[in-house]
Amino acid sequence: MKMRLNAGLVSALVCALVLLWAEGSMGDTPANCTYEDLQGTWVFQVSAGGHDQTVNCSAEATGVSSVTVTLEKLSVATDELGNVGFFTLVYNQGFEVVINGYKWFAFFKYTEDRLQVTSLCDQTSPGWVHDVLGHNWACFLGKKLKAVAPRTDYKPPLSSRSLQQPYKHNMDFIDAINGAQSSWRAARYEEQEGLSLEQLQRRAGGPASHIPRRVHPAPVRADVAKMAAALPEHWDWRNVDGVNFISPVRNQGSCGSCYSFATMGMLEARDFGVVEEACFPYTGRDSPCGGPRDCGRTYAAAYGYVGGFYGGCSEAAMMLELVANGPMGVSFEVYPDFMTYRGGIYHHSGVADPFSPFELTNHAVLLVGFGRCRRSGQKFWIVKNSWGAAWGEGGYFRIRRGGDECAIESIAVAATPIPQL
Ligand SMILES: *[C@@H]1O[C@H](CO)[C@@H](O)[C@H](O)[C@H]1NC(C)=O
Ligand SMILES: *[C@@H]1O[C@H](CO)[C@@H](O)[C@H](O)[C@H]1NC(C)=O
Repeated sequence: MKMRLNAGLVSALVCALVLLWAEGSMGDTPANCTYEDLQGTWVFQVSAGGHDQTVNCSAEATGVSSVTVTLEKLSVATDELGNVGFFTLVYNQGFEVVINGYKWFAFFKYTEDRLQVTSLCDQTSPGWVHDVLGHNWACFLGKKLKAVAPRTDYKPPLSSRSLQQPYKHNMDFIDAINGAQSSWRAARYEEQEGLSLEQLQRRAGGPASHIPRRVHPAPVRADVAKMAAALPEHWDWRNVDGVNFISPVRNQGSCGSCYSFATMGMLEARDFGVVEEACFPYTGRDSPCGGPRDCGRTYAAAYGYVGGFYGGCSEAAMMLELVANGPMGVSFEVYPDFMTYRGGIYHHSGVADPFSPFELTNHAVLLVGFGRCRRSGQKFWIVKNSWGAAWGEGGYFRIRRGGDECAIESIAVAATPIPQL
């Protein structure tokens, strides 16, 4: 798996495709573009079609034909023939457009050197287009009619010397968290002390992975709110009429692979297996995407952001998706206090560890349920982590629901697997 680690859920989405289709090696990119950058009219220069999904879009000449598409609030795409379709930003990295029976996906273009990344948000890297059934693949390059000024971001060093030292617990930090709030308990994990700060940070999504704050949270439609209000107060895929749909808690080790755990967790619970573990065992190290060619594979058909498009997510949409269709990948911001979570309903305590050089990270996990605390009335999500069963509440944690705690209601991703016969 290629690991850039700065966008858990793009990786979840993209890597779900890569893993399942076993082609190419797209990771996520350092581009950092916004919804405003994407909005407007784009010209897509298209290559010759007729390929299958193995087409190498770095090698295809575009310009055989062109399509002009206008992307407007909040998620409406129109083309020059008057067709109306759909689009979504994909995190801060790219976009998908579905129109006239075709799906277009591309990453924004960028350049980088050792110290900085320049995002060219009015252009794309070579992208992929295919019909909605997954046939007739071609490549395209997109360019927005109205130029967007290039944006330069500082590139944090991947690893610094201070992160190489082993993690040491700080009892004052743990006591301060427990003193600052009573909703959840912090504790020392001896297991974490064998790891370097860098390893711990990779386990939580890797450095410099931020969830871009939503500029345009979509209003929750009245019918969605009404349906969500009619759901049960408590839902848990580990126990639905006595059946546990969730596989045992795993431990990703110190590899920044949370997104693949979250993705696989989602597909496992909604389906019957993806690539069998025995065929492609988890190693906790970077390795090529795909694995052995003769593994049986489970394919994902529909996939997308819960709420319909990036920015459309909400508590109500997540609850409905969860109950109707199964667990889903979510991502949230990991503050240092989260590492010490032992049990209860987590919210960021606001307590900082003065000795920790940790940066905020973005961690992908699997949402499996929701509930409400009988005593305090506090609403929570039930979430499966991938740090082993000894962490948290049997490998799970609960986190405040309804207030976008640590951005957990910002990005949820769901996919519908096709069962293999
Ligand atoms: C795709 O094409 C590019 C440019 O020709 C080449 O460098 C790259 O190795 C190709 N990738 C694969 C997987 O064949
Ligand atoms: C991306 O850009 C936004 C401003 O649009 C900025 O706040 C954020 O820090 C940038 N993210 C990265 C990883 O550089």
